[in-house]
Amino acid sequence: MAISGASGILYGVKALQLLRDLNVETHLVVSKAGHLTRSHETDLTREELEAMADISYPINDVGAALSSGSFSTMGMIVAPCSMRTLAAIATGVSESLLTRAADVALKERRRLVLMIRETPLHLLHLRNMQAVTECGAVVFPPVPAFYTRPMTLDDIVTHSVVRALDLFGLDAKSIPRWGETIKLCEKERAIA
Ligand SMILES: Cc1cc2nc3c(=O)[nH]c(=O)nc-3n(C[C@H](O)[C@H](O)[C@H](O)COP(=O)(O)O)c2cc1C
Repeated sequence: MAISGASGILYGVKALQLLRDLNVETHLVVSKAGHLTRSHETDLTREELEAMADISYPINDVGAALSSGSFSTMGMIVAPCSMRTLAAIATGVSESLLTRAADVALKERRRLVLMIRETPLHLLHLRNMQAVTECGAVVFPPVPAFYTRPMTLDDIVTHSVVRALDLFGLDAKSIPRWGETIKLCEKERAIA
């Protein structure tokens, strides 16, 4: 798990909560800007955030377990993923533990999910998204699904994070799903 300095740290917090509920062991690295957004967007202290993971590493600890492909993981999720972190991953610049761990996920052909957040996007953002996709990462902007009729911010955040965890084969939580809990209404069926 990584948290970088894009807005939306609640996506990372929710992922840590859901992974703990699933008894999935989590190893967390948070960028300096990630801690900045934590202080802007939550009341959590650094210690409280880090305690949500099983193991937490300093961002500069490029010798930590996550920096080696021999350390076995299911993969990595960066939630949220800033454009700066996206660019570093896209260009293979592994100067921090976060970007090194992402580089390891790519080289080991493990699942790497980037919950990128920025708008609007310029051409370099798009090119970087193309580059990481070509290397096997999944670019997963947490775009809300309104057909679920979310009532709270937590509904919106949870839905995106559960969908991101689906990509790891993890069934984190019951959420409204099209064709399951959400049924097509009769009028729509007639058109279909
Ligand atoms: C409150 C706040 C919100 C930000 N939101 C975004 C954002 O949504 N997307 C983004 O790419 N950068 C955003 N930034 C800028 C990044 O934090 C900045 O580019 C930083 O260098 C990213 O570093 P990192 O990738 O190492 O976390 C935000 C910064 C702050 C302080």
